[in-house]
Amino acid sequence: MTTISATFREQAASLQSKLVSMRRELHRFPELSNEEFETTKRIRAWLTEAGVRLLDLGLPTGVLAEVKGAHPGPTIMLRADIDALPVNEETGLPFASEVPGKMHACGHDFHTTSMIGAAKLLHDHADELHGTVRILFQPAEEQAVGARAVLEAGALEGVSAIFGMHNKPELPVGTVGIRTGPLMASVDRFEIDIFGKGGHAGVPEAVVDPVVVSSAIVTSLQTLVSRNVSPHYSAVVSVCKLQAGSSWNVIPDTAVLEGTVRTFEPEARAIIPDRMKQVVEGVAAGYGAEARLNWTSMLPAVNNDPAMAEIMRRAAEAQGLQVVEAVPTMGGEDFALYQERIPGCFIWMGTGGTEQWHHPRFTLNEDAIAISAALFAEAAVLGLKSIG
Ligand code: NI
Repeated sequence: MTTISATFREQAASLQSKLVSMRRELHRFPELSNEEFETTKRIRAWLTEAGVRLLDLGLPTGVLAEVKGAHPGPTIMLRADIDALPVNEETGLPFASEVPGKMHACGHDFHTTSMIGAAKLLHDHADELHGTVRILFQPAEEQAVGARAVLEAGALEGVSAIFGMHNKPELPVGTVGIRTGPLMASVDRFEIDIFGKGGHAGVPEAVVDPVVVSSAIVTSLQTLVSRNVSPHYSAVVSVCKLQAGSSWNVIPDTAVLEGTVRTFEPEARAIIPDRMKQVVEGVAAGYGAEARLNWTSMLPAVNNDPAMAEIMRRAAEAQGLQVVEAVPTMGGEDFALYQERIPGCFIWMGTGGTEQWHHPRFTLNEDAIAISAALFAEAAVLGLKSIG
């Protein structure tokens, strides 16, 4: 007897060349966050052609599709992201970006076509499904605003679990990285305004130099993690922008620092803003200056639910894939916002590239498309069974 796992694998393989041509079309015409209008039209057309039902996502870009099983059961979601980056492609590929300054340099074209494949497989097996699978093609992941818009639009209502992936250049095709617990970091952003008193470079006694104050603040911030966060947690504070002055012989009035804080644990994340405020204001006061911290909480950590991670492991094994323990990264993903509401699992899909995400020569091995399509169809079936 042929199992559904084997059927998914064979059908995905037969869809592969079609999925590759879709991926290449998306790759040629990349669109930035919240501008994915043509991408949205293409996804809608391809899903419609495959017979998959579209729902109204209620957003200008992005697509929500649904496969309703013949049998009652819970609803789960598969999620892909669809946006590209302001990067000028240098791969030299025959299907390279035709839009100067824009590129699918993070492989979201790959995520999109893989989930179209999964939707088609599930649609063709709707008779065997116990429940409903929603397939979300989320806009604006790169700007970390798409998931929030999707949540506000209500697309997650009635959904019990969610699965998603990111391609991983370091892992070979046929290998998936799966992990319980944190996989990607929380993302917060800070801006520090420093107010001193400008004046002549040769008359330091008459000024409060914001350049010296900002340097002292940058140095002091280096102890936030090492002296305030438990060594059992993971956290990083990076000051990425330091702006002050416009001349070599004039001390400016003000300076601005900007940066980001990344953590895996909510406990570590909670400590940092208050401590940073104390350090920033205290150091500035010590120099007779004033400083103001502006803190923006952006994303929680991607945190994989143990039961959902187990479903992904079983799906990967059923599909004959090599499963390795996923190595976490301090990058962020707005998939985390869904996981705040419902259990989910986000995995690494091996795509065997030579360059990292966001690089102008980023590439991936398209053989992973059919593999991903079959894997997520399988995960959906197992998810419905185990939740229902
Ligand atoms: Ni990405």
